[in-house]
Amino acid sequence: MKNYKTMVLSNQEISPGYYRMRILAPGFGASARPGQFVMFRVQTSLPPLLRRPFGIFRTGFLPPDCEGQPPKEYLELLYKVVGRGTNIMAGLHHGDRVEVLGPLGRGFDPGNPAEEKILVGGGIGLVPLYMLASHLTKTSSVRLLMGGRTREDILAVTEFERLGVETYVSTDDGSLGEEGLVTEVLKRKLEKFPGASVYACGPMPMIEAVQRICAERKVPLQVSLEALMACGLGACLGCVVKGAGHSEEIPRYLCTCKEGPVFRAEQLDW
Ligand code: FES
Repeated sequence: MKNYKTMVLSNQEISPGYYRMRILAPGFGASARPGQFVMFRVQTSLPPLLRRPFGIFRTGFLPPDCEGQPPKEYLELLYKVVGRGTNIMAGLHHGDRVEVLGPLGRGFDPGNPAEEKILVGGGIGLVPLYMLASHLTKTSSVRLLMGGRTREDILAVTEFERLGVETYVSTDDGSLGEEGLVTEVLKRKLEKFPGASVYACGPMPMIEAVQRICAERKVPLQVSLEALMACGLGACLGCVVKGAGHSEEIPRYLCTCKEGPVFRAEQLDW
């Protein structure tokens, strides 16, 4: 983990309200694992903004420029504009100064390569699944079930397809792919691949539905949870969730930032 005082390389709107930001981050890719996250802060002379957590979409290198400079390593975030902080991010341009702390947290366990892998992403919850897919496709057959409210919530599907991932899209309004919930697609896929492992990230109602479906079928599940985080380092306890076996008499809490954001389903209190 390192604190990068660095700059934005590019920042583009890829769908209404959704942006892709590349940040200069030399050496970042060697330490980042699928499912980890960063704490991001805009360096500004205005009152300092809190750091905010963002899942790592991928890392990579820009092609060398014509002046013979070495390729620049970048960290890529996909994010949705939801409030003041992300609104400020959406206005950043090449060269703007930012601060990135990471990689942080525990990522996905790739599991047994012999198993089919089913990734379930809801909206911007797709973000941590791309690095996971690029890792899993080296050894396993991988399917992505991607759900959103409308077609505008469906992101980066062709990038998963380029990795060799079979993709299935569903939207609540039927504007892209199948009409309906991604969890209905999951039920069908688990009938066909009952020995699969499932990895999910998205809004909590979707995660809870995925957990019920997997628990009924005894399918191993890992979930990446989204939480409000102030420190990202296990210090403020602002991101705790209830762990398995939690009760009023014996409370059990887990820090999403330190012990997660990825958990095996059986670690949590549902
Ligand atoms: Fe502070 Fe997790 S964000 S403990």
